[in-house]
Amino acid sequence: PFGIAVAGTGSVAPEMVVSNDDLSEVMETTDEWITQRTGIRRRHVMEDEETLASLSAKAATKALEDAKFNVEDVDLVLHATSTPDDLFGTGPQVASMIGATNAVAFDLTAACSGFVFALVTAAQYVRSGAFKNVLVIGADGLSRWVDWSDRGTCVLFGDGAGAMLITAAESENDALLGFELGSDGHGACHLGVNAENESSFQVGASKSAQSAKYGKLTMNGKEVFRFATSRVPQTLSKLLERHQIAPEEVDWLLLHQANRRIMDSAAKRLGMPQEKIICNLDEYGNTSAASIPLALDEAMRDGRVKKGDLLACCGFGAGLTWGGAVPWC
Ligand code: ACO
Repeated sequence: PFGIAVAGTGSVAPEMVVSNDDLSEVMETTDEWITQRTGIRRRHVMEDEETLASLSAKAATKALEDAKFNVEDVDLVLHATSTPDDLFGTGPQVASMIGATNAVAFDLTAACSGFVFALVTAAQYVRSGAFKNVLVIGADGLSRWVDWSDRGTCVLFGDGAGAMLITAAESENDALLGFELGSDGHGACHLGVNAENESSFQVGASKSAQSAKYGKLTMNGKEVFRFATSRVPQTLSKLLERHQIAPEEVDWLLLHQANRRIMDSAAKRLGMPQEKIICNLDEYGNTSAASIPLALDEAMRDGRVKKGDLLACCGFGAGLTWGGAVPWC
């Protein structure tokens, strides 16, 4: 049996920045409303020629550079996204773009929990010995799926990608101390980008089939807020208790970057001081599956998070899904 080690991280966001003031020029909103309710000041948005695959490939390449790792030794690329360029999957394109010629690649969808779900999945492959070196990527381009005429949702989201290279380690040095994943389809109605039937076609004398396209993102903000503020502390408390880790032993609280008030509330319920919260919401907004690896990569590069620090991570989002993980960096 093997364990996993975090060998490197990388992240990227599109260059184009859209501030709250930019938005207030084209819709009925204000910097004050958005900042006070969410903590978001800016978001990065893909321009016409950019693709999710290109963002993911850049983040992955940075993680490989950080680890000083030969791309040909990567054997699995796990691409967590809900907004692939291609409904059939974008992971294989990402692997080809970075030159991961010996890797198999596929997409995994668990909305904003996607990165944690992918990290846990990757760890199982490594622990079993099936794969040794796995690139875990969380990437989303929600700017292309929000309804820009709905000020209640479009102001919240931004685009980005984050990656982590994990490699096999001795089992006694396993960097993933524990995890706790959950889902509840009853809450799917609160947040989604749903397929809508556009038209129907005769496929036989008395038979018809539907032709569909995807609609825009819809959200019941209050329900999602309630779900997040209860599920996140519940999941992490359970996880810490199971592994006999006291909140004081955790160096950093790294939650999906959706709303500063959700982070503050979770920290309070977990008995952790605000200084332990890693937050870059002000700059990027909610980047869905990218938010955790993007925030982690920034915090590692600017020296806040150091090798050997213990993190309590929790993703949460559409599905509904939630995923906690306690890794050493
Ligand atoms: N600017 C100005 N006013 C606005 C805006 C805006 N951008 N958006 C909504 N309003 C107005 C509403 O129309 C409403 O006006 P009314 O009272 O006249 O009807 C008023 O502000 C209050 O709106 P609410 O929706 O009740 O505001 P609330 O306090 O619930 O805050 C928010 C909304 C920020 C979305 C909050 O509910 C929230 O953060 N929920 C969690 C959402 C979330 O985290 N989603 C992502 C997690 S999952 C994932 O990542 C995919």
